[in-house]
Amino acid sequence: MILGISGSPRPNRITDHAVKKVLSNYEGETKFISLAGKHIAGCIACLGCTKDNGCVIKDDFPEIAEAMVRADGIVLGVPNYYDMPNALSHSLLERCFCFRHQSVFQLKDKPVVIISTGYSKDEENSQVLKIVEYFTKSNKMNVVSKFLVGAYSQCYTCKYSLPCVDGNVVKNNGFVDEITPEMLPPEFDKQPASVAKCENAGRILQEYLSKK
Ligand SMILES: Cc1cc2nc3c(=O)[nH]c(=O)nc-3n(C[C@H](O)[C@H](O)[C@H](O)COP(=O)(O)O)c2cc1C
Repeated sequence: MILGISGSPRPNRITDHAVKKVLSNYEGETKFISLAGKHIAGCIACLGCTKDNGCVIKDDFPEIAEAMVRADGIVLGVPNYYDMPNALSHSLLERCFCFRHQSVFQLKDKPVVIISTGYSKDEENSQVLKIVEYFTKSNKMNVVSKFLVGAYSQCYTCKYSLPCVDGNVVKNNGFVDEITPEMLPPEFDKQPASVAKCENAGRILQEYLSKK
């Protein structure tokens, strides 16, 4: 089973679509989990997990953890907030500390696809991709594909953005009377390069697991 996790707090938006596109290009069982509305606290360093590699904090994480351990591979969709993984995704990744005690490494060798959504286009220097990769490597996972998918800046839907000199609407378009459709970054299915990367990632997972 391939598990797709979208770390976006906005259900059914770009991050969800990108993760689901990877899953739909995998021929086999898949499962999708959205972190929207989930309560996942950060790791509190209680070390309750060191005995049996299970997190003892009772929130929405343990159920996701169970699916992560069961999965043959994982797709992580992580929104870029301030050039960092957003807080929901970050909490999830911190809690993965529970999988790796006494040389057990429950996620070891699982292939992982990392997607970061945002308006930043600098894939090579993406801090979000680097941070998420660091987390996954700490769990001895195997990153098989990592890439950016375009998403819009909140300034484009903020009703105060037209005169806002600090916002992205003015930065990208100058002062305008209205936001016209061509100014808006495209929805996921109107981004052929992003769609192709997701389709390819699904095939990479397929190939990786068929060889195993
Ligand atoms: C608080 C906040 C901070 C953000 N900071 C950045 C940023 O630094 N760089 C960037 O490329 N996108 C940034 N974004 C845009 C989000 O990455 C983008 O809206 C999100 O990935 C869209 O995913 P979704 O459609 O699944 O919600 C920010 C969005 C929010 C809400």
